[in-house]
Amino acid sequence: MTLTFIAQDDDREIAAATATTIYVCITCRRAGEPETGSAPGLLLAHATSRAADGTGVTVRRVRCLANCNRGLSAAIRRDGAWTYVFGGLDPERDAAALVEGARLFARASDSIMPWRGRPEVLKRGLIARVPPIDFEEESE
Ligand code: FES
Repeated sequence: MTLTFIAQDDDREIAAATATTIYVCITCRRAGEPETGSAPGLLLAHATSRAADGTGVTVRRVRCLANCNRGLSAAIRRDGAWTYVFGGLDPERDAAALVEGARLFARASDSIMPWRGRPEVLKRGLIARVPPIDFEEESE
């Protein structure tokens, strides 16, 4: 997929980039946390939606990404690209980082979320990456 990079205008830039979606697990709780009250994952989803407002990044809620022991959890997807699952997120601290990572990914000229410029929490909190459906490893 070809991207048109427009460096001077953020709004036009994101419109020219590939649509990217953040899935936030709304049922995540930290280990040992009581089951009462709003799940911190839901708070992270709210904060991420607010942070994404006007950026062109879509935020969706999901119940469980099967990363419960290492929550809070979120995934970032882009059509035809790798999917990234993150854990150890904090509802007050990491919403902006998720959106920043999604925007970086949206502007990437290949199907990989760049390491350079990626928010620190999306480096140390990376749980897994999953290839696009048509991916084939190059033979050695
Ligand atoms: S409850 Fe969030 S990953 Fe399972």
